[in-house]
Amino acid sequence: MYRALRSAVLEGVLAPGDRLPSTRQAAADYGVSRGLMEEVFCQLTDEGFFQRAVGRGTFIASELARLETPGKVLPTRSSRGPSRRGLVMAANAACREPEVPRPFNAGIADTKEFPWRTWCRLQARAARELGLAALSFADPRGLPNLSAAIARYLAQFRGIRCTPPQVIIFNSAQQALSALAILLLNHGDAVWIEDPCYLGARAAFDLAGAVAMPVAVDEDGLVVKLGIRRAPRARLAYVTPSHQYPTGVALSLERRIELLQWASRSNSWIVEDDYDGEFRYAGQPLASLYSLDSRARVFYLGTLNKSMFVSLRLAYVVVPEEMMELLANIRTQMDGFSPVLTQMTLSLFMEEGYFSSYLRRMRAVYGAKREILVEALAPLASLGWTWSSNPAGMHLLMRHKSGNYVREVARASTLDLALLRAYRARRAQDDGFFLRFGALDPKSLQTGVDELVAVATKMAKLTIK
Ligand SMILES: Cc1ncc(COP(=O)(O)O)c(C=O)c1O
Repeated sequence: MYRALRSAVLEGVLAPGDRLPSTRQAAADYGVSRGLMEEVFCQLTDEGFFQRAVGRGTFIASELARLETPGKVLPTRSSRGPSRRGLVMAANAACREPEVPRPFNAGIADTKEFPWRTWCRLQARAARELGLAALSFADPRGLPNLSAAIARYLAQFRGIRCTPPQVIIFNSAQQALSALAILLLNHGDAVWIEDPCYLGARAAFDLAGAVAMPVAVDEDGLVVKLGIRRAPRARLAYVTPSHQYPTGVALSLERRIELLQWASRSNSWIVEDDYDGEFRYAGQPLASLYSLDSRARVFYLGTLNKSMFVSLRLAYVVVPEEMMELLANIRTQMDGFSPVLTQMTLSLFMEEGYFSSYLRRMRAVYGAKREILVEALAPLASLGWTWSSNPAGMHLLMRHKSGNYVREVARASTLDLALLRAYRARRAQDDGFFLRFGALDPKSLQTGVDELVAVATKMAKLTIK
């Protein structure tokens, strides 16, 4: 009875203002008890479908007249569509199937040597140690054990001195960049970005309504003087000093100091994205901006999705003390906190020394892959190709002064070669493409680079006069 009457109202069979029979009458009409009918009328009155007026009877609620087509969903013709911000974000990110590693689309971690059994054992131990706490709410700043393990690692290997509470855990560098953009930028604020730039960072700043100011990168990294000329009072500078993304150069010490002095003078922030700082294959890394900074201007960003495996979904930011609480609060609004069991497993992996030995191992693995590439590419130097000599990271950017030639090579080969120009703010004559090799096995790496050398040599004869 309840459902039939409710549908009759929503479908307009019973119209607002219509008078209903008395419960006695309705019970007789439908052959049910009056008590049952009374219960149905009360329920529909409580839900607002019926109105009862003492002495006058029961009516279909007049408010329902305000429903355009009761019970029906209109076609979306009248919808206003997505927001401008939604469109900006959707244009910058596409939902894709994960790529199968092939030359040269694989700038991600190689997992073939990952100590999976150890990880599983530590995960079981983490589950035992945490007990039901693994299933509960957790600290949005990150598991204290993990923050402490990361702080220790940074002190030992990156010369970074910070307290564990300064290390705030995120799911990814991308999420951290979005949170930092929200924390630090007002609508319309100028932000220095490197030109060419990591597109994920640019997207986060665009979304915050900031105005990206591209600053050229040369063989010493970001040309700080150009930034000062273009936007002396920019609120923030985003840099990838260890291994500039995508050109691969390292920011020289002189430029690091210049950048820090500017930030201190103009009261600006620096976001130092050390996305693959663990992978340097020769010599000592230059001191991080964070470790050189005496004015607490630098946010240092690291991601374990790159150094461990891409589905780990853990990254961190080392935050100046005055901003710790605010950034953690913003993080809670994004998605609360990172999965506790994974954080605990990683903290055990670090505490037990597996992390540093795995990084040591992987440094050798990626370093050897980079060697294969660089050796095989050597003949292309005489055709005018260049690449960064900074022995770091999981990708190599090859450049040539003839953009046409670069694009012809990319078209003529069967390889997956992302073009440099997609990462640039300004058009230029020259161009380049990435060789993203992290997850490639040495054999496909060799086949890929052999094809590249053959195609580039052949196309040189056809394209370059
Ligand atoms: C410069 C730079 N920053 C950040 C990231 C992304 O890290 P995550 O996967 O943790 O968002 C990458 C990934 O390649 C990167 O190249």
